[in-house]
Amino acid sequence: MDNKKIIELLQKMTLAEKIGQLSQTTGEHYVGKIDSEMVETGPDFPDHMLEGDTLYTMGSIIGVSSARITNLIQSKYLQKSRLKIPLLFMHDAIHGYRTIFPIPLGLSCTWDEGIVQQAAADTASELRAAGIHVNFSPMVDLVRDSRWGRVMESFGEDHLLSGNLGRAMIRGYQKGEDGEFAESGVAACLKHFAAYGAGIGGKDYNAVDMSWREFYAYYGKPYEIALQEKPKFVMSSFNTFNGVPVSASEQMMKEILRGTYQFDNIVISDWGAVAELQNHRVAGNGKEAAEMALKAGIDIEMVSTLYLEHYEQILEENPALIQDIDAAVLKILQLKNEMGLFENPFVNEARENEVLMNPRFLEHAKDIAKRTCVLLKNEQMLPISKEYKKIIIVGPFAGSNQLLGNWRCKGSFDDVVTLAEGMKRVDDSFDLQVYESLKDCPQAELEQSDYIVVAVGEHWELSGEGHSSVNIDLEASQQQLIREVKQTNKPYACICFSGRPLALQNIIDDIPALLWCWYPGTQAGSAIAELITGQDTPSGKLTMSFPRHSAQAPIYYNEYSTGRPANESSYSSRYQDCEIGPLFPFGHGLTYTGAQYSDFKISRHHLTAGEELTISFQVSNPSGYDYSEITILYIEDLVSKAVRPVREMKKYQVVGVPAHQTVNVQMTLALDDLQYLDTSLQQTVETGKFNIYINDLDHPVFTIEYR
Ligand code: IFM
Repeated sequence: MDNKKIIELLQKMTLAEKIGQLSQTTGEHYVGKIDSEMVETGPDFPDHMLEGDTLYTMGSIIGVSSARITNLIQSKYLQKSRLKIPLLFMHDAIHGYRTIFPIPLGLSCTWDEGIVQQAAADTASELRAAGIHVNFSPMVDLVRDSRWGRVMESFGEDHLLSGNLGRAMIRGYQKGEDGEFAESGVAACLKHFAAYGAGIGGKDYNAVDMSWREFYAYYGKPYEIALQEKPKFVMSSFNTFNGVPVSASEQMMKEILRGTYQFDNIVISDWGAVAELQNHRVAGNGKEAAEMALKAGIDIEMVSTLYLEHYEQILEENPALIQDIDAAVLKILQLKNEMGLFENPFVNEARENEVLMNPRFLEHAKDIAKRTCVLLKNEQMLPISKEYKKIIIVGPFAGSNQLLGNWRCKGSFDDVVTLAEGMKRVDDSFDLQVYESLKDCPQAELEQSDYIVVAVGEHWELSGEGHSSVNIDLEASQQQLIREVKQTNKPYACICFSGRPLALQNIIDDIPALLWCWYPGTQAGSAIAELITGQDTPSGKLTMSFPRHSAQAPIYYNEYSTGRPANESSYSSRYQDCEIGPLFPFGHGLTYTGAQYSDFKISRHHLTAGEELTISFQVSNPSGYDYSEITILYIEDLVSKAVRPVREMKKYQVVGVPAHQTVNVQMTLALDDLQYLDTSLQQTVETGKFNIYINDLDHPVFTIEYR
């Protein structure tokens, strides 16, 4: 349909029909509740408005999956809708739909935009085949506190990396496999604008309070960067920001999102967030809540029905709002048109099965999962020696298929390759015994075994939305298991699954080798088996610092300088009952043989405006593995008028290094990389010296001067 017809359609719509387009509900109103095909991702809200004709004006449906059910709802809807405007179906497929990829925090440990884009493009294919048009992903909320359950959905603590990976994910969703949105893409929904990851105390939905400098320099940056990819949607966040709920904030949604960051697509609230303005106690009733959200520019109200209930009165009192409403409806109609829904609102049900879990996606899922694992420690215990064939796998995750992580969409546990299955695929001569605890293992078997793999971690239900924790230690019984294994005097290593960094200081000395696997998804066992048997090497690097103790959170590499930097003195910025610094810092991650960095060179030691300098170095791979090395450059401004972070990551490159080869890496620095946001919110750079660090947060390789 051409745009003229879309505008004509808008002109034919009644106000009630327009408000319907700005309202989203669940699928059960049309076909009843079908547990296997519907998910509810928030609390119930009164739905008395969704009766009679109103139901057939709604613009979109949340949480429904499968071609059959989306088709069924669409056809029931279209039969009764006056103008036959098809529904959009929206879902949360944040790391895959049926083929499940590693959780986003795991994906971020690849630092690789290509990988993230690939996972997103595969997800888009599956979503489209299932009749879903909009994906509530990516989440680029900056995270520093692993008590927050949703860190699993993030890309970690660095704003540049989070923004870049978010942008790649949007590209993957919207371009899809064929590079064409209309053909193979789904609309991405960037979330949650803004600063949702900074909830006080790591508590979900909690208030956020920060300086504007902190917002623009750090928490706002990932959205700013990801918005360059022009997602079709942005979701407003649940939290308050400096005293105002974001979903009622004209400043956040209009001035900053639409103004400063130039977003001109559709804004959707989070689940029930419009109604929750009453719980925030900024709205005295439903009408006030709806009015505030409409004025703030929240185009679509998710699940609660206050727009439907109160629009007449709101428009009577604020007639100018009709312009915003018309603009929002037009964008929604244009999106439906761009996706070809007016011509074909249905999906081919027979095709769905061909697309879901396509072998090509499974292959990608395995390769990607391998890249997401981070080898945190290795006292020459991994890979498992080729002579070891009698292997015991023990622990709560030993035989488990619960390796998909939260928000697993249509991912089925039955499809998950367990570790034992993965090991057999690598080498079917392995003699494997799988036990939940060591007590279950007969003594004779233990004695005859060559090697023990301890599979521990946090159950997937303990992370995700609404799952914040005060205690992020590895469970005591699992620590006990590790100590029991140590006492067997057998060689052993630990693999750990989690949705967040855990605090390991009490147990780390008893772990000779530790592979952090996050939740690797459908191909978990194959990926891990290939790594621990040495078919391939781990190569991921952390994107979130690992605290030693739960109470060290929030902890992050780019903290501000303090007047009393941490040292052994009690008059320094430290905790008296915990060692200084994280247990494993941002950027940490080993490979089996260890890349060697050498031959650091710099083209010049000073810069002025308009100039660039180049830093080069060599990365040698003495191992027999081809792999990708993540190279990272940080700066440290030695003196600045406003306080800056102790380290700032400015450049990174994921560099393929073939086995036994050396590659040359070059990174350039220019004025932009030395600038910072001063206290008047101006980008500024001051003359003076900067230290440059490569992959090592403690030892600079060069000092340069900006003149
Ligand atoms: O997309 C999610 C959001 O991240 C949290 N609340 C529910 C939404 C829809 O499922």
